[in-house]
Amino acid sequence: MFCKFVGLVLLVAGFCSTALAQTQAVDAEGHQWWQHAVFYEIYPRSFMDSNDDGIGDLKGIASKLDYLKSLGVDAIWITPCYPSPQVDFGYDVSDYENIDPMYGTLADFDRLQQEASKRGIRIIMDFVMNHTSDQHAWFLDSRSSRTAAKRDWYMWHDGKGSAPPNNWVSTFGGSAWTWDAKTGQYFYHYFYPQQPDLNWRNPAVHDAMFDVTRWWYKRGVAGFRLDAVDTLFEDPGLHDNPVLPGKDKFGDPNEENLYNAKLPEVHVVLRDLRKVADENNAVLIGETWTKDVSELKQYYGDHGDELQMPMDFMFAKVDRLSATEFRRQIAAVDSAGGWPVFVLSNHDIVRSSVRYGDGKNNRAIEKLMASLYLTLRGTPIMYYGEEIGMENNDPVRKEDVKDPIGRVGWPQEKGRDGERTPMQWDDSPNAGFTRGTPWLPVPLSYKTVNVASELKDPSSVLHAYRRLLALRHQNRALLDGDYVALNESDTNVLSYLRRYKNEAVLVVLNMSSQPQRVSFDLGPQGFAVQNASTLFTTMGGGSKVSLSHLSLQPFSVYVGAVSK
Ligand code: NOJ
Ligand code: CA
Repeated sequence: MFCKFVGLVLLVAGFCSTALAQTQAVDAEGHQWWQHAVFYEIYPRSFMDSNDDGIGDLKGIASKLDYLKSLGVDAIWITPCYPSPQVDFGYDVSDYENIDPMYGTLADFDRLQQEASKRGIRIIMDFVMNHTSDQHAWFLDSRSSRTAAKRDWYMWHDGKGSAPPNNWVSTFGGSAWTWDAKTGQYFYHYFYPQQPDLNWRNPAVHDAMFDVTRWWYKRGVAGFRLDAVDTLFEDPGLHDNPVLPGKDKFGDPNEENLYNAKLPEVHVVLRDLRKVADENNAVLIGETWTKDVSELKQYYGDHGDELQMPMDFMFAKVDRLSATEFRRQIAAVDSAGGWPVFVLSNHDIVRSSVRYGDGKNNRAIEKLMASLYLTLRGTPIMYYGEEIGMENNDPVRKEDVKDPIGRVGWPQEKGRDGERTPMQWDDSPNAGFTRGTPWLPVPLSYKTVNVASELKDPSSVLHAYRRLLALRHQNRALLDGDYVALNESDTNVLSYLRRYKNEAVLVVLNMSSQPQRVSFDLGPQGFAVQNASTLFTTMGGGSKVSLSHLSLQPFSVYVGAVSK
């Protein structure tokens, strides 16, 4: 009864009863909920298996909501859990308005959302916009004949003699064109042949895909992570891409994606999607691979009317633990005019612990990286398992590889299995993920790198995450303060201030394997003080430190408060 009443009131306001809608700014600065939220990416196959078939599922996620809440997570982004032949593990969607039986049912989804909502956690879905599965009803119709109703929903073209229409190569290997003998034309796919590209120039495609977003908004989701936005449009003239020197991992010629990526029409669609998102108080997160900040800026829109949260992958692409490199990238994105979005790892990128770890001090380095992206101005998107320091478990034999690109590109490209292994919950068999056979093997390190063991150890990576997340939820300067780089010529220690009115937080990160001594004069920043009060550190020490001589152990972190 109560639910019905609340539902009615919220329906009048235009929201689903289970949604945690963004109704207004959350602070005096006009910030929106997603600017103060911490997002957490869940790869559903690998998070928690509730029925012991070796594959994670929605009930499994629901069973871990209390864990996520206590960690400090405000929103979960679930990578595709729609019906799919799983050629690209869900990124080949055969029905956008349902749940794959291996993950559960729509009723399970609704329950997950209700339970999440009770805990103040929002749900973000993955919107695979560029392509569908070749088993989607739309494509089955499209390929049935040249005159099929949905023929023009995909990109069909004649070849050049016996060759494909042009030289475009798939980012997953081989030509981006596949010959269809039945209808005597080629179809285009930027990814696998089982992922034909939708024709976004067709208004019917535009409308059908927009309806998908409305359908999920009505179910209560708080937004979407937009997959592969760069490649929605292609040059209608089908010009050949310029060929660059060398070959890619699959042995294809390197190309500049001049005619099949980042076309201006993408921004028209993003502006339209944003209007629908705004009507639903939702957030749009972009899978935005950009080469520089000027490209990233475009995704916010000239008038801030496109993506609220384009991910800054240039941050994740800083290829070594370098104070200078991180300082440069942070400054660049901080000055881009939008709200930065920091990502360290995801289901396509080797885990950060492997990328930045030196093999000897990995635990310290994981805490260092956590302290970096959780204290910057902007919104962090965590990747499951990062909070316990999970490492890649890459296949060692080609026959064990599940991710198709790893088989095509072996051994240069081992695929993405390594960063997608089951979440390590405890030290029982299969790390407590399943009592069946996990779809990917769990590395032996799970005996110590797991949630249950780390919860018992106050010096664990997990405790560092929990403390940092608690801090960033309460501390005004960490939430809203501006970013001021300090000691900019220091090549070992990355330091900055998050400054908010009369208070500030000083963050000091020793990115080197050597002890360092640093000093700070915060007078020019308006804080003529001698000491900082410790908020978080990976070193021992008292509750106050002197700013004129701060000693840092290798890879250590100091975070302290100063006030006027
Ligand atoms: C980006 C996704 O993150 C990746 O996993 C997928 O393979 C491609 N898009 C294709 O959808
Ligand atoms: Ca399962």
